[in-house]
Amino acid sequence: MKILVINGPNINMLGIREKHIYGSENYDTLVELCKKTGEELGVEIECWQSNHEGDIVDKIQWAYFNKVDGIVINPAAYTHTSVALLDAVKAVSIPTVEVHISRVEEREDFRQVSFIRAACCKTISGQGIKGYAAAIEFLAKGEYKL
Ligand code: DQA
Repeated sequence: MKILVINGPNINMLGIREKHIYGSENYDTLVELCKKTGEELGVEIECWQSNHEGDIVDKIQWAYFNKVDGIVINPAAYTHTSVALLDAVKAVSIPTVEVHISRVEEREDFRQVSFIRAACCKTISGQGIKGYAAAIEFLAKGEYKL
């Protein structure tokens, strides 16, 4: 089984950006956690990050052609703006979990909209970087309904 972990804009700035919201752990630590979780579950993990919306669309399409079994995605700010990412996840029909490090439900009004959520089998928010491990475990155990 192969799971692709996609992170959107500014997630590479973890540990530097707004630590009171996103914590002090950096992107490398996030990647290590995902890889370790994959090893424990016997799942191959690829972590990938981009600040560019179209590149993220390309990577979701790449997942289809490269036989990825599950996607964990934190689209970051594109969560709240991008119909293109919603359409991409719908197009590939790969089980996808939406992850947010912060508790988006308790933040600004503009963060209450998630376009991609309609195409995801689960949303995890407010668990810090541990939310990625929970998402990988959820996909690895096949706990979703398509
Ligand atoms: C985020 C929440 C988004 O609203 C924000 O734009 C981010 C990160 C999170 O992980 O909590 O960049 O997706």
